[in-house]
Amino acid sequence: MTNNALDANLAVIILAAGQGTRMKSALPKVLHRIGGRPLVGHVLDTARDLGPGHVVVVVRHERDLVADAVTGIADEVIVVDQDEIPGTGRAVEVSLAAIPDFAGDVLVLSGDVPLLDAGTLGALVGDHRASGAAVTLLSAVLPDATGYGRVIRDPDGSVARVVEQKDASAAEAAVTEINAGVYVFRSTVLRTELARVGTDNAQGEKYLTDVIGLARAGGLPVTASVVADATLTLGVNDRAQLAEAGRLLNARTVRRWQLAGATIQDPATTWIDVTATLAPDVTVLPNTHILRATTVAVGATIGPDTSLEDCEVGENATVRRADATLAVIGANATVGPFAYLRPGTVLAAGGKIGTFVETKNSTIGEGSKVPHLSYIGDTTIGRGVNLGAGAITANYDDVTKHRTEIGDEVHSGSHNVFVAPVRIGDGAKTGAGAVIRKDVPPGALALSVAPQRNIEGWVDNHRPGTAAAAAAARSRSAQEQGDGAQEEHG
Ligand code: UD1
Ligand code: CA
Repeated sequence: MTNNALDANLAVIILAAGQGTRMKSALPKVLHRIGGRPLVGHVLDTARDLGPGHVVVVVRHERDLVADAVTGIADEVIVVDQDEIPGTGRAVEVSLAAIPDFAGDVLVLSGDVPLLDAGTLGALVGDHRASGAAVTLLSAVLPDATGYGRVIRDPDGSVARVVEQKDASAAEAAVTEINAGVYVFRSTVLRTELARVGTDNAQGEKYLTDVIGLARAGGLPVTASVVADATLTLGVNDRAQLAEAGRLLNARTVRRWQLAGATIQDPATTWIDVTATLAPDVTVLPNTHILRATTVAVGATIGPDTSLEDCEVGENATVRRADATLAVIGANATVGPFAYLRPGTVLAAGGKIGTFVETKNSTIGEGSKVPHLSYIGDTTIGRGVNLGAGAITANYDDVTKHRTEIGDEVHSGSHNVFVAPVRIGDGAKTGAGAVIRKDVPPGALALSVAPQRNIEGWVDNHRPGTAAAAAAARSRSAQEQGDGAQEEHG
C-alpha cells in the first residue's frame, strides 16, 4: 500500500541505536536481512509510505554502518546519534531535539519490528487523531508474551502503563497483551514527559514506555489499538525470531505474487526477495530462490532447485536446477538442468545453456546452444551456433583474461578447447577434440588432432594372455565365421 500524500503534521522516529545483544552478532541487529533487505530498511520503507514531514533514525551501536545503510535507502532521512544514556526513551529524546520546531504527531517505530505495514500504521495514526489521545500505542495479544513489555490496564479497561518483562511482577507477567513498540504521541506531551523519565529500573535505562504511565498519571488520555494480526508486531531480538520474521514476510510476498497471477507450487520452499518481480503466468517450482532485483517475464518457468540473483528472465524461458547471478536469460531460452551462470552472462532469445555448463561474462547469440559439459568465459557467440559437448574456452593465461569470438552458424566438434584470444569465423566448423589456438576463417573446417593410426595385433604382441587379448581373439574368430557364412550364401 502506498500513500504518497505528504502528511507534514507527522514525524516518524525509527529506533535503531541498540546493539541487539541477543543476536550474538558482529553485525548490528537492524542490519540483519529478511526478504533481501535489512530489518531497518523494511521499517524505513513502510514509514515513507505514510508521507511524513520528517523521518529520523537514531543510531549508536556501529553507527556508521547503520547510518550508511539508512541513507543509502532514503537520503532525506535525518540520522541522529544517541549519547551514552541508554534506553528507548533517550533515543526518542535525542531524536526530538533534532526537530525542535516540530509540534505535530510523532510515530515511533522500532528498527527491529519489520513486518508492520503502512495500512496498519496509517490506521493507528488515524485512531490517534480521531480519539484526541495524547498517546496511542499499538498492542497485540500473544499466546506467548515472553520478552515483551505488557500493557497494564485499569479495572475500567483503560491503559494505565506498560511494564517491561524484567520489571514485571508475576501477575503482570501473566498479561498476554503486549506493547508492540509502536506508538503515536502528541509531540508536546512527549517532549515534556521524556524530560521526567528516569533510569530506575531493572535495566538502568530510560524507557520510552514510562511516558505512558506518566501521561496517564498526569490525567492525559492514553489509548491502545489492538492489532488484528498479531504476527505483524513480531520483534526480532534473536536469530530464531529473525528466521520467523523472514518466513512470515516471505509468505506475504509469495501470496502477493500468487494473487498477481504467478503459480507458486510450494510457498514453503520458495523464497522471493521483496525487490524481485514476477509477471503473470510465471511458474515457480519448489526449492527456488528469486533474489534481489530479479525480474521474471510472462510465461517463464523457474525451478525446481534454482537460485536467481539480480537476473532478468525473458518470456517463456525455462530455468531448471540452475544457479545464476547478474545474468540475462532471453525469451524462450532454456537453462539447465545443472547450470551455473555467473555475472555477465547474456543468453539471447531461444538459446540454450544446458547440463553441467558454466558461463561467465559471455554473450550467447539468438538460438545458439551450449548444451553439455562446458565452460564458456569472456566469449561472444553469434547466432545459430552449436558447441559440441565439452567445449572449453581457455580464457586465462595465468596473467590476463582473453576473449574468444565465435561467429554465426558455427558448429564445433565435441571436446574442443578454444585458447583465447581466438576467433572462429562465421559458418566455420571444428573437428572433435580440436585445440583451437589460431583463428579459423569463415566457412573453414579446423582440425588439430593428428590422424588416427591403428597398430594391428598390438594387444596380442604386448599383452598376451590377458582378458583383452582373449576378447580380441573371440571377436576375430566370430568375424571370420560370419565372413565364411556370408561367402556360402553369396
Ligand atoms: C521494547 C519495549 C517493549 C516492547 C518491545 C516490542 C521499551 C523499554 N520496551 O522492548 O515494551 O514490548 O520493544 O518489540 O521500549 N534502541 C535504541 N536505543 C536504545 C535501546 C534500544 O535505539 O538505547 C532501539 C533498538 O535498536 C531497537 C528498539 O529500540 O530497534 C527496541 O529496543 P529493544 O532493546 O529491542 O527493546 P525491547 O526489549 O524489545
Ligand atoms: Ca526488540
